[in-house]
Amino acid sequence: MKENIVLCGFMGCGKTSVGKILAQKTGRTFCDTDLYLEDKFGMEITEIFNRYGEQRFREMENEVVKEVSAKQNMVIACGGGTVLREENVKIFRENKSKIFLLDTPIEMLQERLSADVKRPLLQKPNRQEIIEELYSERIHQYRAAADEIIPADMPVIAVVKKMIKEYL
Ligand code: S3P
Repeated sequence: MKENIVLCGFMGCGKTSVGKILAQKTGRTFCDTDLYLEDKFGMEITEIFNRYGEQRFREMENEVVKEVSAKQNMVIACGGGTVLREENVKIFRENKSKIFLLDTPIEMLQERLSADVKRPLLQKPNRQEIIEELYSERIHQYRAAADEIIPADMPVIAVVKKMIKEYL
């Protein structure tokens, strides 16, 4: 049995792209909690935010964390807000997951997120400021949740190789 790997970090840090390749290369099953949630509840995240609000989305996310973390041999790419809820981190830890933060510089995040149309938190005119605010609010929480912090300002494959070589 292999321990689960959880990838956390800000929107656009590369959790999904890194997670897919990491899963392939380490013989684990990949799961993106956002996609799992959309599938489970039959609704896109934007629609959930619009109809029920962020609070309800966070409850759904918590249910997903419980379900997904109970599986084995997984690479789990979290949503950017998942590990901000301490209970979610506790659940991952209880299930012996190893939590990695993909630490991507804010300039890179700004660039990657500049044209995003899918993330409800960013669909406002002052997007750059929102990203700055959220980033500075959250970065210490990401760091506190993580067992390992991976610099992610390099190509996806290089991030994956570094993780495998140094930590897995
Ligand atoms: C969120 C990040 C999103 C998604 C939702 C909320 C956040 O996931 O869960 O829009 O609060 O940072 P990604 O980090 O995969 O974009």
